[in-house]
Amino acid sequence: MYNITIYVVSAVCLGLLYITAVAVYNRFFHPLSNIPGPLLASWTRLWLVYRTIQRRSHLSDLSLHARYGPCVRIAPNELLISNIHYFKTIYGTDTKFSKSTWYDSIGSDESDFNLLAESNLSKYWQQKRLISPVFTTQALRQHQALLARALNTFITKFKNKANEPQDLVRWMNILALDVLTEMTWSCSPNYVLAEDDNGNCADIDRFWQHLSWIGLLPTFNRCYKRVQKLLENVGLTFLYKPDTGRLSIIQFYISQIVARSKESPELASGHRDIAGTMHNHRAMKPELKKEWADIMLLHVVGAGFDTLGATLASCISLISQTPGCQSRLVQEISDAGIDEDLEHENLKGLMYLQACIRESIRLKPVVATSMSRTIPMQGMWVEGNAIPGGTIIGMNPVVLHRSRELFGDDAGCFRPERWLEASKEQHDAMEYYDLSFGSPARSCPGKNLALMILCRTVADVFRHFSVRIIRDSEVSRLGLPAFKEASFFVYKPYNIWAEFTTREKLST
Ligand code: HEM
Repeated sequence: MYNITIYVVSAVCLGLLYITAVAVYNRFFHPLSNIPGPLLASWTRLWLVYRTIQRRSHLSDLSLHARYGPCVRIAPNELLISNIHYFKTIYGTDTKFSKSTWYDSIGSDESDFNLLAESNLSKYWQQKRLISPVFTTQALRQHQALLARALNTFITKFKNKANEPQDLVRWMNILALDVLTEMTWSCSPNYVLAEDDNGNCADIDRFWQHLSWIGLLPTFNRCYKRVQKLLENVGLTFLYKPDTGRLSIIQFYISQIVARSKESPELASGHRDIAGTMHNHRAMKPELKKEWADIMLLHVVGAGFDTLGATLASCISLISQTPGCQSRLVQEISDAGIDEDLEHENLKGLMYLQACIRESIRLKPVVATSMSRTIPMQGMWVEGNAIPGGTIIGMNPVVLHRSRELFGDDAGCFRPERWLEASKEQHDAMEYYDLSFGSPARSCPGKNLALMILCRTVADVFRHFSVRIIRDSEVSRLGLPAFKEASFFVYKPYNIWAEFTTREKLST
């Protein structure tokens, strides 16, 4: 008995000694020890995990920079920076910085196609080049009739809902699910008609919430994935959290993939939707494996629906809340005489509409946490400090997009005019340092698709409705859930209540 007590006490003391030694090393002797930041963050990565679980990085990263300056140590081996001087080195097209280990948490280990996480840059570029032609604006233009069909269903539905408070975020997610599915498969799960998202929003939130913290602990994550695999093999899947594979919309996509693969080649090549374009493109590029093409089709909704939903909701809400903005936008559509013809070719010439969309994604970017990258072996200099290779470094788009140096003193305000007033030089800079659709080296392959849907939806909504965002005081008086926002890698607003009034004429 006496011996066991001695062993336990010794083990505890050794454990404490080890933890203290690591904390002291990290704080005083680590190569990053000169970089300012919260004391606990310099000791242990658990500080960052704790902060991530609070889901407020869209606000707290701004406070961190305000307190500690442009370079903050947020974990023993991780930096958050805001100085645009380092942007090109980290995110530029020729960068040697790969995505950090956080991204390993996304996707399954069994597939060799995972654009979001791929750290082998040559493999990444090979795969991205192969799928890109399917997502060019020119290719996507062929699917505009499908986009119009999904939007018409939504507009008709909303005409019957005029003057009742509607949850804008919920509706934009539902719309995004229908629109993306319609454009991919020429059919829709009809969530708009059912007024229900079939649990997809809650499921995708759970998915991101889980990844947002577990990705910060790569070793723990690897063990977690092994246990998950083990449980799957013995049929105990209900014991762990769902991944995107269990989203009902993904099941819908899988059933479409299976149905199309049973079609004759003539039938399969005749579809005028994204899946049809992918099929025909694959026939010309045999190196594009069927599995890669199928996964990319799943990405359309997996990576696209909640990002598009949140972006649409933020955009419509910012336009509606800003005095004069809605009427100027409606006037622009009216003056262009295209209210019956909202084709992409016409909409891209509406400079105020384009400015509104740019401004809203600048202010409410979809990624609201550090877009972390790993410094290559040769290391780098940051604010006069030599930072060793292997250190993780990143910028939070929310912080970067509010840079006064880039956007002026009113960088925190929604002011679409800034895009129209800027000199060419300013405009180019504002565009270059924009992380809304990822970095120059790792940009979102769905950008053209997302922008096409955004432009048309925003124009169509304001063409048909005058939108009033209900104030917080009225929301509480009506007993509706209050506005909240959270970030768990992706930024999510909730409960933006709006009233849609049908317009008699476009100019009203
Ligand atoms: C408004 C809608 C969207 C926004 C704001 C958005 C934004 C982004 C951002 C910021 C990234 C970079 C993430 C990072 O590097 O950490 C990204 C990557 C990605 N997005 Fe999108 N996205 C949208 C819609 C879509 C759609 C519709 C698709 C599918 C076609 C898509 C597919 C992807 C994929 C596969 C990546 C990984 C690319 C890479 O790492 O290089 N996204 N997106």
